[in-house]
Amino acid sequence: MHFKKLVVLFILSLIIIACKGNKVEVVVPHIIPVPNSSEVLNGSFTLNSNIHLISEEDLNEVAEFSAAFLKQGFKNNTDDYKQKSFLEFKIDSNLHEEEYVLRITEEKILITSSSQKGAFYGFQTLRQMLPVNFENGTYTENKVALPCINIKDKPKFSYRGMHLDVGRHMYSVDFIKKYIDALAILKMNTFHWHLTEDQGWRIEIKKYPKLQEIAAYRDETLVGHYSDQPHQFDGEKYGGYYAQEEVKGIVAYAEKRFITIIPEIEMPGHSQAAIAAYPELGCAGEQVEVAKKWGVFEEIYCTKDSTFDFLEDVLDEVLELFPSKYIHIGGDEAPKTRWKTCANCQKRIKDEGLKDEHELQNYFITRMEKYLNSKGRQIIGWDEILEGGLAPNATVMSWRGTNGAVEAAKSGHNVVMTPTSHCYFDYYQSDNENEPLAIGGFLPLEKVYEFNPIPEELTNEEAKYVLGAQGNLWTEYMPTEDQVEYMVFPRMLAMSEVLWSHPKQKNYADFISRLENFHKRLDALNINYANHLYEIEGEMISESGKSYYELKTLTEGKTIRYTLDGSEPDLNSKVYKSQIPFVESTTIKAAVFNDEVQLGKTFIQYINYHKAVGAKITIDKTPHKAYSGSGSEGLINGISGSDTRYGDKEWLGFWGEDILIEIDLREEKEIHSIETRFYNGNGQWIYAPKEIDMQFVVNDGSIVKDKVYLKKRDVLKVEMNYNFNPPKNMNIKVKSIKLIVPNYGIIPEGRQGAGNKAWTFIDEIIIN
Ligand code: ACM
Ligand code: ZN
Repeated sequence: MHFKKLVVLFILSLIIIACKGNKVEVVVPHIIPVPNSSEVLNGSFTLNSNIHLISEEDLNEVAEFSAAFLKQGFKNNTDDYKQKSFLEFKIDSNLHEEEYVLRITEEKILITSSSQKGAFYGFQTLRQMLPVNFENGTYTENKVALPCINIKDKPKFSYRGMHLDVGRHMYSVDFIKKYIDALAILKMNTFHWHLTEDQGWRIEIKKYPKLQEIAAYRDETLVGHYSDQPHQFDGEKYGGYYAQEEVKGIVAYAEKRFITIIPEIEMPGHSQAAIAAYPELGCAGEQVEVAKKWGVFEEIYCTKDSTFDFLEDVLDEVLELFPSKYIHIGGDEAPKTRWKTCANCQKRIKDEGLKDEHELQNYFITRMEKYLNSKGRQIIGWDEILEGGLAPNATVMSWRGTNGAVEAAKSGHNVVMTPTSHCYFDYYQSDNENEPLAIGGFLPLEKVYEFNPIPEELTNEEAKYVLGAQGNLWTEYMPTEDQVEYMVFPRMLAMSEVLWSHPKQKNYADFISRLENFHKRLDALNINYANHLYEIEGEMISESGKSYYELKTLTEGKTIRYTLDGSEPDLNSKVYKSQIPFVESTTIKAAVFNDEVQLGKTFIQYINYHKAVGAKITIDKTPHKAYSGSGSEGLINGISGSDTRYGDKEWLGFWGEDILIEIDLREEKEIHSIETRFYNGNGQWIYAPKEIDMQFVVNDGSIVKDKVYLKKRDVLKVEMNYNFNPPKNMNIKVKSIKLIVPNYGIIPEGRQGAGNKAWTFIDEIIIN
């Protein structure tokens, strides 16, 4: 398209038919992420298909993009307007680069910005004010009524990202574009493309054809969850890669949407696929296979010079394809086992005067940083790049909690926040047991929404190093594009608001009502989002020894109906009005209804009214703030945690600490058993303790001591079933119980997270 200098007018539709002049309904906008300030004014503007676009030259690209979208939206109109509707893009160089002002008056729509980026975001806001049928070309009217409005908006964080792992599973080029489109609607600006893994190398590198022939394919794939024993495989070859031409197309597509793609080429770990293609890249030079199951593998790049030659060649081709300032070099989960016994690596340690293999990791990263800096790029890496010292100009992506971020920011390095607790969208999002298989963990929408990317340990000055955050999508358990969408939506919408919106504007209930509305747009975009809006959340409440159960649901104007007799709730079931008192074990079933039908799934909760329910509990340590469940009371509230989701309201997590739990039964009780369980998801650094010490204060004031060894150590959970057996003739009653739970200790070599403190996760303590 040719543009005249400064101002250009072009007309989308030239067929002119008289305006019908009938009234149109104005819809109040439901924008996500919520704008900084918006003021709905009196009056309305009618956008019709006879659009006149006015744009300053520097904004032409966005003007064209917008025009194409509107043209698509009005493509099915039957008659056109004589009256023109004006859409104007204007520059105000006083605005911040990503800032925009959207003003709709009765005369026109005006988007003001200092750059194309701001104009683009202004248009995305306008887009969300348009009927959802604009998204898929099914709008049949010839006009849209918009409220007169004044929106002034800019982002809180400069890095607003989403990650996607295509190593474990791979998705079509069209899907990658669809993902990028979704980022754009939500004003995200970074796509972190995780391109290489143990299970597959996914980017064409012309100089190394075996990356395409061998590293891109695995012979078969693990079936079911990693913790299912024995491991079984599907027997089907799986793989593929993105050709450089495809990558170029994707990068150009993203650029048009003001999204930077940061490619990740993993090193020194997660590189088994590359080593399978070129065994000489490993320490032993032995043939290995492209990994068929998930986890952390010991085959990592050797530190001899020829490996660096290979990586530099690879990066040379990567840099040609990706113009981003940042190149992600991975750095995470690199076991040092091979380096310890490799003559080349040991010689490197000696020659370079390094202390150990951790400093060798630092040597590796720093050497790659020097290379990329010489090409005008910066490295970003997972927080393990702090190991053995941090490369001078590196940006840290903090995933193992926030300690890495704090350390990096305090030493003047930029950080991007992706802590597992709030940013891992591969975790379960609902505690409904029939969710599709996921890796584990629990990250509900609300927890994402409440995320504050700035760690509280940082001063305001240090907080400036926090560029922003991103949602991570590790795809071991996402074989299909539908499944990726299910895990991403709606959590990505919450993340967009964390990153863009001013904290003052954030309000979860308001977000939920906008999300309910946004579902229609996601439907129009054919996005397979998870809908947990009509589910029920239950909570046991204990007050002065009495127990009540509370039911809640997220959206307004619906009815909760429930049963206590095991029957399925229906339109005739009791309507929930206030907390339900409990004095015995019961199963509660409940569901959300409108006037006609049940909306969400049925909620089922068994309440085990055991002898500690309503007791007093204290724990000498505070649970980790990311895993504080419903507090210490949650351990004796009659409700057990999920079998698969240690991050729910019922499990409590402690990191590296010994804990002392004291339960005061409030009255002397005869007791026979104590049961509890510990999570044992070693892949997530969670280890059940090896033994528990117990102390009972009994009715004669004496203390009875005992010890339990947790010998039967199942994958995922370790159960404690303790029988309290005082001599029968003594009529012993118990006043209070202490459980002394030592932490497992340091995670052993060769395991995921080796060298770090283990987590302890404990569930309901059931006393009978
Ligand atoms: C990671 O999750 N290994 C960065
Ligand atoms: Zn080596």
